[in-house]
Amino acid sequence: MQAIPVGVSSIHSSRLAYGCWRVAGSWDPAEVTPAGRAAGKRAVIAAYEAGYTLFDNADIYCRGEAERILGEVLKEVSGMRDRIAIVTKGGIRPAGDPEQDAPGRYDFSAAHLLQACEQSLKRLGVETIDVYLLHRPDYLADPEEVAEAFSRLKAAGKVRHFGVSNFRPTLVTALQVACPMPLVAHQVEISLAKLDAFTDGTLDQCLIERITPMAWSPLAAGRIGSGATRLLPSQAGYRPEQFLPAVEAIAAARGVSRTVVALAWLLKHPSRILPIVGTTKPERIREATTAAELDLTREEWYRLLVAARGEPMP
Ligand SMILES: NC(=O)c1ccc[n+]([C@@H]2O[C@H](COP(=O)([O-])OP(=O)(O)OC[C@H]3O[C@@H](n4cnc5c(N)ncnc54)[C@H](OP(=O)(O)O)[C@@H]3O)[C@@H](O)[C@H]2O)c1
Repeated sequence: MQAIPVGVSSIHSSRLAYGCWRVAGSWDPAEVTPAGRAAGKRAVIAAYEAGYTLFDNADIYCRGEAERILGEVLKEVSGMRDRIAIVTKGGIRPAGDPEQDAPGRYDFSAAHLLQACEQSLKRLGVETIDVYLLHRPDYLADPEEVAEAFSRLKAAGKVRHFGVSNFRPTLVTALQVACPMPLVAHQVEISLAKLDAFTDGTLDQCLIERITPMAWSPLAAGRIGSGATRLLPSQAGYRPEQFLPAVEAIAAARGVSRTVVALAWLLKHPSRILPIVGTTKPERIREATTAAELDLTREEWYRLLVAARGEPMP
């Protein structure tokens, strides 16, 4: 796969990234089975062998199991660590942490970020995280305190670059003003079922600041494929049947699957959206890479946008 730079950093990524959210086979560590872990490891290896060179993860994915699974693969596959970029995220604290009655919440305090990053490094079994992202905006975030935590992590050689996820553009600016280093990635949900980033300023800001937009759930968690194994509550209301006929028509004309069309649609945007492929099926992981070779015309692109909007352009 072709490679692109991540923001203004020296890190490069394959044109599609691989996401490890689902590799444990469950979101509950108590439900993870040896067979499920083995399948997750096969998925990660399939992605590496198919040419993906950026792997996305987070401390809360199956409460650390997804980072452990990637870490085990890195130990087993000789040379892999040096050929890939590792992205992981922190800043979310699940309910019950640390006291039993603590609510699920966000925590960008320096103490929490430093500790969370340390734990991620341990589970991944690496010395450095290539890009560390703040997972969801903390209502109490103090940009100066976050900047201080970032500086300490960078000075200690624990993180090379930083970014954010699910932020409003204004909060990205507030953090960037406080940070001595450039933010290099902004991970948000973007797909034919979720168009907000095109109009809420997120992609404009990525173009202005040369931040790489990373698209999570690029297939609307599978709704654009053959169905979702697991959806977030916020994704339950999607109505892909509204635009799937248009995707299918272009897929038939181009001789590819509709998932390839949906990924190519994201790749066409000039901000160089980096879709994070989330399937755990090796054959689907391989098939997704062919989207990088499909250059949709402007007419095809707009036909899909109009179908996804459910109304003509004004
Ligand atoms: N920053 C954030 O807040 C955030 C939130 C969510 C996700 N993420 C990141 O984004 C990544 C991708 O998210 P996602 O998993 O929801 O992405 P996705 O690619 O939209 O959805 C993948 C899901 O679709 C299913 N699927 C059904 N048919 C498919 C087909 N033909 N091709 C491919 N997949 C098909 C897959 O099932 P099978 O496995 O059975 O193929 C899998 O459950 C995650 O791994 C994570 O790294 C970030």
